[in-house]
Amino acid sequence: MTRSKIPDVRLHDIDDLRLHSRMYDAVIDDVDGRRIRIGNDWLVDWASCNYLGLDLDEEVIAAVEPALRRWGTHPGWSRMLGNPRLYPDIEERMTELLGSGNTLLLPTISQIHLSVIPALAGQGTLIIESRAHKTIYDGCVFARGLGATLKRFRSKRFDELEALLRDVTARPVMVCIDGVNSMTGDIPDLPEYVRLCREYGALLYVDDAHGFGVIGERSPEEPSPYGRRGNSIVRHTAESYQDIVLVGGFSKAYSSLLAFLALPTSVKDHLKVAAAPYLYSGPSPVASLATVLAGLDVNDKRGDDLRTHLWALTRRLLSHVRALGIHTLNTDGTPIVELPISPDHDLIAVSEKLWSAGHYVTLAPYPGVPRDEVGFRVQLTSAHTLEQVDALNAVLTDLAAEGALRRSIPAQRAASRLRRR
Ligand SMILES: Cc1ncc(COP(=O)(O)O)c(C=O)c1O
Repeated sequence: MTRSKIPDVRLHDIDDLRLHSRMYDAVIDDVDGRRIRIGNDWLVDWASCNYLGLDLDEEVIAAVEPALRRWGTHPGWSRMLGNPRLYPDIEERMTELLGSGNTLLLPTISQIHLSVIPALAGQGTLIIESRAHKTIYDGCVFARGLGATLKRFRSKRFDELEALLRDVTARPVMVCIDGVNSMTGDIPDLPEYVRLCREYGALLYVDDAHGFGVIGERSPEEPSPYGRRGNSIVRHTAESYQDIVLVGGFSKAYSSLLAFLALPTSVKDHLKVAAAPYLYSGPSPVASLATVLAGLDVNDKRGDDLRTHLWALTRRLLSHVRALGIHTLNTDGTPIVELPISPDHDLIAVSEKLWSAGHYVTLAPYPGVPRDEVGFRVQLTSAHTLEQVDALNAVLTDLAAEGALRRSIPAQRAASRLRRR
């Protein structure tokens, strides 16, 4: 098929990266701890979302073979037809960990959004936050095609959300947001969202793909500000699950292909007949179900230690970034650190400097992020070391000295005050 037969979807900047950047569409030849080999180059990997480092954990790896011996490599049934016992075992453990009414497992979060958002919205109204993940937006667009009304409000603009909630005509109403935001690392003000949703009789649908496993319930004994147990944003903000559907996944912190919904039993029963992936999709591989169970064991035994190390690494990076006076979208100390580049610098040139110094990051081009946030994202995991963070900090110092990184707002103001004098 020729290129002219594919619709032009304004993805030029991304296509440019695909064609010209080594940090796009790369083939990884080897993995050694949190280093990867691409061709002849060994690079520190800051692009994976394996926040707890469970992809490399011996206890988790050892759990795979016995499960394969017992269950074979892959359950051949959709969930409606047959569930290896691993499924109810994980759902029970998750319900206890999250403190939710019940839990439903499906293979991926994308599948959940595409099937559950339309099933819950019906002919009602969906109100989506402007920075919510693309896969939530896709689920909402699909629901709109089936008769729902779709509205959008700008991030953090509770006044806009309230105005939309007040004017709603089609019910039911569901507000869709990210938990820990995948690009900024921000933890949203969940209590304010819940308050508004309850006041106006709406359901709150939260995708905490990046918070699950990292942030959890607060406690006076907590070893880091991430809280304890990594049981996600509802527990982190001490909310109840009333009027909230929480979605999360194991493909980030737990390094496994599986996703979940925390929901009341009545909604779970409804989705067992209304959500297509439960009825018709192939299931998660046995290896993933086994690594989730082993990961939950590790979380019980060592999870808070892993998170404490993750926090120490993140704090070291963020302190350096702040000392350099460069801008990051990260305000809450989560292990997702986006660093926008200066408007007069080229993303591919900056990424080549990072590569030459031995670092592999996630590039953030337009339209994935707004123009003034184009840059790169660093994800820390508990499998990184302090030495690796120090090496990255040294490259950031050089990039900042060259003026390649956008300065923080206070640093910009100070510079313009100096210019005026
Ligand atoms: C916030 C968020 N939601 C959903 C997804 C997609 O998850 P899955 O791979 O389970 O479909 C991602 C993946 O990066 C994400 O960051």
